[in-house]
Amino acid sequence: MHQGYPRMNKPLDIAIIGAGGISRAHTHAFPFFRDRLVLSAVCDTHETAAHALASECGTGIPVFSDHRQLLAQIRPDAAIITLPHFLHYPVARDFLDAGVPVLVEKPVTCTGAELRELDAIAKRKKLVLLAGQMRRFNAAVRKVKAWRDAAPENFGELRSFDVVVQVNIDAYTGGKTGHWILDGAKAGGGVITSFGIHRVDLVRHLGGADFAEVTAIGRFDAPFTNRAESQASVLFRMSNGATGTLHANALAPRTPFMDSFCLHGTHGTILEVAGPMRYATTTGTITKQWGDQHQGFVEATDSSDPKDDAFAQQLLAFADAVQFGRMPTFNTSEENFNTVACMDAIAESLRTGGTVKVAKLKAVSE
Ligand SMILES: NC(=O)c1ccc[n+]([C@@H]2O[C@H](COP(=O)([O-])OP(=O)(O)OC[C@H]3O[C@@H](n4cnc5c(N)ncnc54)[C@H](O)[C@@H]3O)[C@@H](O)[C@H]2O)c1
Repeated sequence: MHQGYPRMNKPLDIAIIGAGGISRAHTHAFPFFRDRLVLSAVCDTHETAAHALASECGTGIPVFSDHRQLLAQIRPDAAIITLPHFLHYPVARDFLDAGVPVLVEKPVTCTGAELRELDAIAKRKKLVLLAGQMRRFNAAVRKVKAWRDAAPENFGELRSFDVVVQVNIDAYTGGKTGHWILDGAKAGGGVITSFGIHRVDLVRHLGGADFAEVTAIGRFDAPFTNRAESQASVLFRMSNGATGTLHANALAPRTPFMDSFCLHGTHGTILEVAGPMRYATTTGTITKQWGDQHQGFVEATDSSDPKDDAFAQQLLAFADAVQFGRMPTFNTSEENFNTVACMDAIAESLRTGGTVKVAKLKAVSE
């Protein structure tokens, strides 16, 4: 049980800060949990965007263009931060300083040092700070994780993995050259920080090992600016000695967004390549024949129930943590340390051309 909040027997008032593209993936879940959650305010510097989101979600939802005014005037029970990456840290900090728990979109911060600082504030003030790595809440991911946890020998120890990420960034930005996601100073990086981080984080979550060392090469082509990588190829060594690769390219013309991976353990495989996530083990059915390799896979399909989607489940986990002190077993800020530290290490390797150790971030002690 998280010490601090259990605090309320009323629906949780939640403000959303940032009314852009992804905000709706969060707000769509509120109506499913009316007895638990109320969207109590919307904030966006772009007032038209804030009003549009507020009116889509109900009537009379207060709108702000400055999160500090929102804090001063309505002080919600909790907030979801869906802003450009460089604003995650200062805005989350303002909320935590004001005693308000936060769920922060990925990447929670642009650096490990910032994440460690937010984590320390949250712990000192006994507030919930959750990492918005929502893929961990996908029904398919939950199913595969449950399979692994129920019988660890089915997968065994992670030995190798490969991740591929392809994005057509012009389609993503609608061709806007000034978009914040193209600017390394605002996005905190390029294609890996903005898109690859989902799979990087899942390698840890499903593979069961942390990132220890990276070696990266990349390109920094327009429309990306300020050292945001447009593509990168990364070699990884994990804390258990496993090795893996990632290739990410944001300049993939006429390519629908695609990210995929395969993880190989000593006994099992987890694949999500052109189709639903699948898993199989050799335990009990040793595969020796070529044709055996096509058999024995279980499909971990995503749920078609909108209440069961990753954003909705993530929101419910956040509410459970804030209202009842039931912290999720994953997605805490401290659990997220290694994912963000891995982003730091990739950026440094891209800068220096060398192999970089992933910092072992330690929580600031109480
Ligand atoms: N989990 C996912 O699958 C997923 C998908 C897309 C985006 N995201 C993440 O969500 C976050 C937002 O991405 P997006 O695509 O919605 O971006 P976006 O550019 O569409 O929206 C950001 C919004 O923030 C507003 N804004 C900027 N500065 C502000 C400030 N100081 N105060 C209040 N509002 C401000 C902008 O006006 C804009 O409306 C990012 O962290 C991104 O990585 C996650």
